[in-house]
Amino acid sequence: MKRNTFYVTTPIYYVNAKPHIGSLYATLAADVLARWHRMKGADVFFLTGTDENSQKTLKAAEKEGVEPMKYLDDMAAAWKEIWSQFDISYDRFIRTTEADHHRGVQEFFKRLNPRDVYKAPYEGWYCVGCEEFYPEDRLVDGACPIHKTKPEWIREENYFFKASNYQEALVAYYEAHPEFIQPAARRNEMLGFLKQGLKDTSITRAGARWGIPFPQDESQRIYVWFEALLNYMTGIGYGVDAERFERFWPAQVQVLGKDIARFHALLWPAMLLSAGFALPEKLFVHGFITVNGEKMSKSLGNVIDPLELRAKYPSDVVRYTLFREFPFGQDGDFSYEKLDARYRQELANELGNLLHRVLSMTERYLDGVIPRLGSEDFRAVVSDTWNAYESAMDAVDFSRALEATRALVTFCNEYIEQHKPWVLAKDPASRERLSQVLAGLLESLRHIGWLVRPFMPRISDEIFTQLGLDVARADGMPFSEMKIWNCLPAGARVRKGQPLFPLPEKDA
Ligand code: MSP
Repeated sequence: MKRNTFYVTTPIYYVNAKPHIGSLYATLAADVLARWHRMKGADVFFLTGTDENSQKTLKAAEKEGVEPMKYLDDMAAAWKEIWSQFDISYDRFIRTTEADHHRGVQEFFKRLNPRDVYKAPYEGWYCVGCEEFYPEDRLVDGACPIHKTKPEWIREENYFFKASNYQEALVAYYEAHPEFIQPAARRNEMLGFLKQGLKDTSITRAGARWGIPFPQDESQRIYVWFEALLNYMTGIGYGVDAERFERFWPAQVQVLGKDIARFHALLWPAMLLSAGFALPEKLFVHGFITVNGEKMSKSLGNVIDPLELRAKYPSDVVRYTLFREFPFGQDGDFSYEKLDARYRQELANELGNLLHRVLSMTERYLDGVIPRLGSEDFRAVVSDTWNAYESAMDAVDFSRALEATRALVTFCNEYIEQHKPWVLAKDPASRERLSQVLAGLLESLRHIGWLVRPFMPRISDEIFTQLGLDVARADGMPFSEMKIWNCLPAGARVRKGQPLFPLPEKDA
């Protein structure tokens, strides 16, 4: 039987600092997917959370002179608060200091094929910022390529995972499942690394003072990446709730940034193969956000703080712009100026005005009553929009889905200019035609309300409310019903409200 579940994950975030726009970006993307699949009627599980066993957490807590657990509790609360301000509809916020995660991790070690684990001395460079061992050839002028700092030289006795045992199986898997890693350029890059050879990975740290003890040798702690990746299993109950785990595993989409693609594309599947679990269906790797063409950095003073962003703009506007501005999967640029331009043009002038004008005309010419729909003028364009939108959403191509939505808005605005309801209203003989023009526009707006819903859930509710629909009925409505042409109840009244995207007086 075909499962109708949809399990989506974000990376779990380090909490040595507050969220920045990069963490917001991935979390919003997963939220858009979760909302889209809920709309389509799937049983969705959306997991996000915090990576709390890193050495740098301990360092950050010590720097602030706070107990580590108190520090982590405060940080996790701060992250949750930000997610709530951006309407992130997660089903679970996992913290890797939670007992059930530890249980699941222990269980996983029992499942790992024993021939894949061995003990050996380790000597090499370790970047605490990345929590990653760096072979000499990946350093740039002796420094970590990400943090630009000199890594620590570590010499200790560790346990290793023989990832190399899975090299061939993984190459075969990549080849049989071209959709496993997306976008395609990222897949090719990872396949290239894979073909160079999978290196064995140290999976414990002897010197670590924080983290989950290694079951086979409690003097060591599990290497944080190895255990953090397992959150994707423990977050849905692995080790404590077999039924839930079976229901949702494997994940349909795992969203992650390009800097952590190697861990997810090479180590993670090798771990799953060793323990005998199915691999996730899709790893979607997104790009990096720059600000006015520059990498965000404290010293440049261009870091965009999600809370500051939120104080200036409603959540829906940020959500729309981030995914409209450049394709998800590529690097792209973002700035307050860009956000402002999209707000004024596409949101206020195009979408907001469309709703406002259509409802004003319905009130003025039809006493606010929705006419019976007879016009076919929009049927084809609405159906084409849905087709383009659905295929884009299923390909995680958000900017294309939003382009398709915008094209429908543009069509409606042009239709108004062509059919001039204000002229039709002057001639009693055109009464029926006027009703049909407005009925078609109102019904198209109902479709637009659905199309924007994964990106702008509040705006979607507002569109439905102003169209006189019962918002409480929206969630749980069958997908096929949303897409039907001619669904607005004739005879009901619209409820024109405030503009969706207000502009300051002088610009309106
Ligand atoms: N804790 C690990 C992930 C473990 S997952 C099992 C981690 N955390 S992180 O907080 O450092 O990074 C989280 C995510 O933020 C990564 O996917 C990273 O790509 C993303 N971003 C960090 N800066 C970014 C931008 N400037 N733009 C977009 N995303 C970026 O790594």
